[in-house]
Amino acid sequence: MNTRKPMTLHRLREMHASGEKIAMLTCYDAAFAQVLDAAGVDSLLVGDSIGMVLQGHASTAAVSMDEMLYHTACVARANRAAWGIADMPFGSYQESADSAVHNAVRLMQAGAQMIKLEGGGWTVPIVRRLVERGIPVCAHLGFTPQSVHALGGYRVQGRDAASSSALRAHAMELVGVGAQFLLLEMVPAALARELTKESPVPVIGIGAGAGCSGPVLVLHDMRGLTSDSPPRFVRNFLAGGATIQSAIGQYVKDVKEGRFPDDAVHGV
Ligand code: KIV
Repeated sequence: MNTRKPMTLHRLREMHASGEKIAMLTCYDAAFAQVLDAAGVDSLLVGDSIGMVLQGHASTAAVSMDEMLYHTACVARANRAAWGIADMPFGSYQESADSAVHNAVRLMQAGAQMIKLEGGGWTVPIVRRLVERGIPVCAHLGFTPQSVHALGGYRVQGRDAASSSALRAHAMELVGVGAQFLLLEMVPAALARELTKESPVPVIGIGAGAGCSGPVLVLHDMRGLTSDSPPRFVRNFLAGGATIQSAIGQYVKDVKEGRFPDDAVHGV
């Protein structure tokens, strides 16, 4: 029986402040929500990576609001304690702050506790408005998959002085208007570590090294289902014949005990 106390933003912030690692995974359905929650995963992200790992698209751009609502509701029905975050899909917040509030409210009504959106600078007024309306926001910076075409492919962001100071400025601006979580994707480990130290809110990393408040992996990647040659920052926790339950348990243990990620192996 799962007797975990429901995770709260306050507790996640305490974990960030004390250095206790936060274990996050993506999740798209009720069966896995139950397994991940029972294994002690702190936060489940209903990512728009469904576009790639479930639907077979080449990017996340095709994912619709209705699809995100469906998967968010499936996860929320089975999740008892993990902090539930849902992605705002491409097109659901780009147009205006009004459309962002409208769509974020729908995701919260479907069971999300926080929404995630991508980008810095232009997203500041949108995040400010969402926060004012009582919607917790995770701001996704660095490599932002919805902009894969604009960014010229899957590239590490923030490598040079100009782009690292822009990333830092965006992060602080977003936290300044009330973002309660930052997520850094494909950012040099040293920059992610510094930003995490400076940030009052948890910083989750994917391909951002070991210095973040905790990592997130795409559930299919960490079970070796997506590619024969996954990105460097992925580890297959099912390799070696583990069961799904023990693989998830191992992920939580390795995150909590600082064995995953390892900058030497998973840093970009
Ligand atoms: O959609 C997703 O799964 C994500 C992760 C890559 C962090 O945003």
